[in-house]
Amino acid sequence: MTETTVREAFPAIAEITDDELRSGVLRAWAESLDETGHDLFEVPWFPPVQTELDLPDERLVPHVNDVVASAVAIAERLRDARGSDVSIDLVRAGALVHDVSKLYEFDTDGETAVHDALGHPHYGVVPAARAELPAEVLNVVLSHSNRTSVEPSTLEAVIVKRADQVAAAAIRAEARDDPREV
Ligand SMILES: [Fe+2]
Repeated sequence: MTETTVREAFPAIAEITDDELRSGVLRAWAESLDETGHDLFEVPWFPPVQTELDLPDERLVPHVNDVVASAVAIAERLRDARGSDVSIDLVRAGALVHDVSKLYEFDTDGETAVHDALGHPHYGVVPAARAELPAEVLNVVLSHSNRTSVEPSTLEAVIVKRADQVAAAAIRAEARDDPREV
């Protein structure tokens, strides 16, 4: 039931070719949803920033799908044009789970921090590890935000981090004309 919702929200899961990676991404989201009780489609993108920018309707699901599509496009370009040794599976899986911690970061009212003691995006590593995702994916989760001291350890993690920054900037651009203002 929950897994059906996750598949519906994130169609790119079906495109992960490695069976364990695909099932791990699915399980990380499904178990986190079951644990937190969120309606996945209602989870906000980032409540404090949305309040600041007066963008109350931004949701996490389209943001994650933006990051997945952008990151995969970058990776495919580098692989095809430069022959870069980049795993599209790892980029896709990492982008899909990079923000799974947001289910724990905010309560269903969109304001209360559930795991503030550990902090986002540190907590995302917990459901990702529980779903037996590999260390390369855990690095994507931990390194995608500047709020950790963890650096991307692979080209794939760099790609996801940059795609996330651009996708976030696109949301901010809805409220600010000049990116230097935010
Ligand atoms: Fe993100």
